[in-house]
Amino acid sequence: MIKKKVVVLGSTGSVGINTLRVIESLGDRFQVIGLTARKNINLLEKQTRKFHPKIVALADKKSARELRGRFKSMMIMSGQEGVIEVARLKEADLVVSAIVGASGLIPTLEAIKARKGIALANKETLVIAGEIIMAEAHKRGVEILPVDSEHSAIFQCLKREEKKKVSHIILTASGGPFLKFSFSRLKSVTPKEALKHPTWEMGKKVTIDSATLMNKGLEVIEAHYLFGIDIDRIAVVIHPQAIVHSLVEFVDGSILAHLGTPDMRLPIQYALTYPERLPTSLKRLDLTKIKELTFQKPDTKKFPCLKLAYEAARIGGTAPAVLSASNEIAVSLFLKKKIGFMEIPQMIKKVLNKHKPIKSPTLNEILKADVWAREEALRC
Ligand SMILES: NC(=O)c1ccc[n+]([C@@H]2O[C@H](COP(=O)([O-])OP(=O)(O)OC[C@H]3O[C@@H](n4cnc5c(N)ncnc54)[C@H](OP(=O)(O)O)[C@@H]3O)[C@@H](O)[C@H]2O)c1
Repeated sequence: MIKKKVVVLGSTGSVGINTLRVIESLGDRFQVIGLTARKNINLLEKQTRKFHPKIVALADKKSARELRGRFKSMMIMSGQEGVIEVARLKEADLVVSAIVGASGLIPTLEAIKARKGIALANKETLVIAGEIIMAEAHKRGVEILPVDSEHSAIFQCLKREEKKKVSHIILTASGGPFLKFSFSRLKSVTPKEALKHPTWEMGKKVTIDSATLMNKGLEVIEAHYLFGIDIDRIAVVIHPQAIVHSLVEFVDGSILAHLGTPDMRLPIQYALTYPERLPTSLKRLDLTKIKELTFQKPDTKKFPCLKLAYEAARIGGTAPAVLSASNEIAVSLFLKKKIGFMEIPQMIKKVLNKHKPIKSPTLNEILKADVWAREEALRC
């Protein structure tokens, strides 16, 4: 069997670790040839000793120097250039894009330009530069396979269906840890409380994004570009059981849904093996044990980030990049206890209100808007 050669960008993160677990569980089908991280050298060292990649990179240059001291003959690159070099690796068949935040954009774009298949977890890539990414992928004949469980669900529901037959995409959201909290209680929630997600175990940024519902907002924008469906035909429903991963409603009123246990290894495996579907030893969904499946409208007064994401998406151009960048800053300030939970949407709104969006921006204009939004958020 010819092994699929895989690069994992962000291998030390939650998605990266799960990707390597899936690869390990699938035996001889895959060969890991490149890994990247920011500065977690201990885990990257362990992964390197286990999977024997050809090349690794650390975005943090000091950490890369330290890792070089631990390996005699290993190719260890550093900085964003190093991460890009791994993303473009000549032999790679598939690049798993699992860096968090805007830092994932350029390496993913470069992997597309190098005609690598993409398994996309880094939703910010499409939020920030969806038009550019999809156009580049189309031009190079690159398929972007979703890793996000909701987008994987939609991708599977849409199979063999024509786009014009789709009435709506319905993204489900667990609602995060604060679904039942009152508006006033939300003002005093701590990072520790926000990091306790009821269903999913994920990196810090996406866990806070889930608590504010910004994660769902970013996913709406991701779905818009990935599936070419108008923003206003993408709906969000709160589904706390996190069993229905998303749904597609067709013009005749039929709805197709994707169900499964909430385990990221499932959508990761599907993206890795696509178009094949292979058995797994993951826990099965026992329908007779599901007590209830509930769906409700999101409360955008308590969770304004979702509304802000829709607004930025409708404006388009550089607005989604500004939304995403100011959110990154707000989340990092909240994690450092410098601002409160409800100040996250306030900060994003202020920055969006000051922004003068550019229509059909170039990559350079997007990157400038990103830098401007970060500086502006810090000035708030
Ligand atoms: N976690 C999930 O279940 C899940 C589900 C769906 C989608 N996603 C999306 O997948 C992406 C990754 O999420 P995650 O939860 O896996 O994040 P995470 O646990 O925080 O991991 C992030 C990864 O990116 C690396 N990284 C951080 N900053 C970097 C930089 N400037 N340059 C290069 N690498 C950098 C980290 O390296 P270090 O470890 O060295 O810092 C780590 O390997 C996000 O876009 C998220 O929205 C996640």
